[in-house]
Amino acid sequence: MSANDKTGKKPWSGRFAEPATGLVQRFTASVAFDRRLAVFDIEASLAHARMLQAAGIIGQADLAAIEKGLAQIRSEIDAGAFAWSDAYEDVHFNIERRLIELAGEPGKRLHTARSRNDQVATDLRLFLRAAIDQVAALIRSVQRALLDLADEHAETVMPGYTHLQVAQPVTFGHHLLAYFEMFARDAQRLADCRRRVNRLPLGAAALAGTSFPIDRQRVAKELGFDGVCENSIDAVSDRDFAIEFAACAALVMTHLSRFCEEIIIWANPRFGFVEIADGFSTGSSIMPQKRNPDVAELIRGKTGRVNGHLVALLTLMKGQPLAYNRDNQEDKEPLFDVVDTLTACLAVFAEMLGGIKVQREAMAAAARQGHATATDLAEYLVRKGVAFREAHEAVAQAVRFAESRNCELAELKLAELQRFSSRIAQDVYDALTLEGSLKSRSHIGGTAPVRVKAAIAKARKSLG
Ligand code: ARG
Repeated sequence: MSANDKTGKKPWSGRFAEPATGLVQRFTASVAFDRRLAVFDIEASLAHARMLQAAGIIGQADLAAIEKGLAQIRSEIDAGAFAWSDAYEDVHFNIERRLIELAGEPGKRLHTARSRNDQVATDLRLFLRAAIDQVAALIRSVQRALLDLADEHAETVMPGYTHLQVAQPVTFGHHLLAYFEMFARDAQRLADCRRRVNRLPLGAAALAGTSFPIDRQRVAKELGFDGVCENSIDAVSDRDFAIEFAACAALVMTHLSRFCEEIIIWANPRFGFVEIADGFSTGSSIMPQKRNPDVAELIRGKTGRVNGHLVALLTLMKGQPLAYNRDNQEDKEPLFDVVDTLTACLAVFAEMLGGIKVQREAMAAAARQGHATATDLAEYLVRKGVAFREAHEAVAQAVRFAESRNCELAELKLAELQRFSSRIAQDVYDALTLEGSLKSRSHIGGTAPVRVKAAIAKARKSLG
């Protein structure tokens, strides 16, 4: 490849008698999408070149020319003036070709002691590390929005559900804190994944390492890696770090999706628990009365897309013999889309949460229906000395009786309740009211307002 080469001749074209056909060139090219790695490619090339110079593999003048050329390339890319070309296949060749154009001979020395195989693995890890940091910050903002809302609703009563049937009263704040916990685990998983992402592949070269006296630790340090990949064959071939990230992302999306499903249900007028802010609802082009929770639905829908990418990445890897195979070029589009989808969903979700209007009365009214404190009555009987199974049976009879009267358990008169157990006294209503039920669950992890407030304080502290 000579400087000023506009023919699209590949650096490896010396090996072949005929150039690739246009069809093959288009088929194999990845620059349309992997140019997104350009900033990381340049950063890694700079660290590599500095190490080559320090190790005496290239000269000081070579390094100066490479640094100058790469700086110019970075500004051309930033300015949108860089001439990306399919003819140069991928982001690595495009940048290298331009460097040779700008720097001449020294540019040709940059690729000493490396291969595109360790180069692309390095770029991808740098990209992913930055993406993880961005996602982690977004998760924290969702967690903060959850805590702000939970703070307002530490005492707001709502029906807790199992099987989407009224189960027991809980506070809305407590319900929100359940999601806080899920996102806290997501953040931990990502932090753990980051430790495995943050290893330097460079130095592995094509697969077998290099005969030059390279200093991998130096490159690792300059690029902010925690260490180097310990095996050159593994370094260039596995993409488990990307798969792991996609799995973490799929779980975050799953949690977002569950919450969105609840918002969709709660926003239905039959529930009427919440109203989604105007900016996050959409109307219908035909039905004038409609107010649709499209944003929540889209987040739920995009979860399928992220799950799909996870499966794509797993499938991409499973049949590959060691070491590098071109299959791995197919890792980028799914991975990029996972990052883009996840960051977009987290950002919009945090804002949507901030604009949610909670209808306390509707929640409380729903909690008063469905005999939500039946378990409290059973527990009351146990405290009076009745065995739990017997208590359960007595309360079941009482519920049937209430239903036959078309009323709630808590609305039965004392004399009526006493038909089902002689142990029932006036204090039963402390257990049967929603407030009494909530207040009694004050242990760690419980839904009592005092406990919810303590949990919020603890959660805030954990966010720092
Ligand atoms: N564009 C390639 C990729 O994404 C870069 C590595 C190509 N290496 C090779 N030997 N063909 O994986």
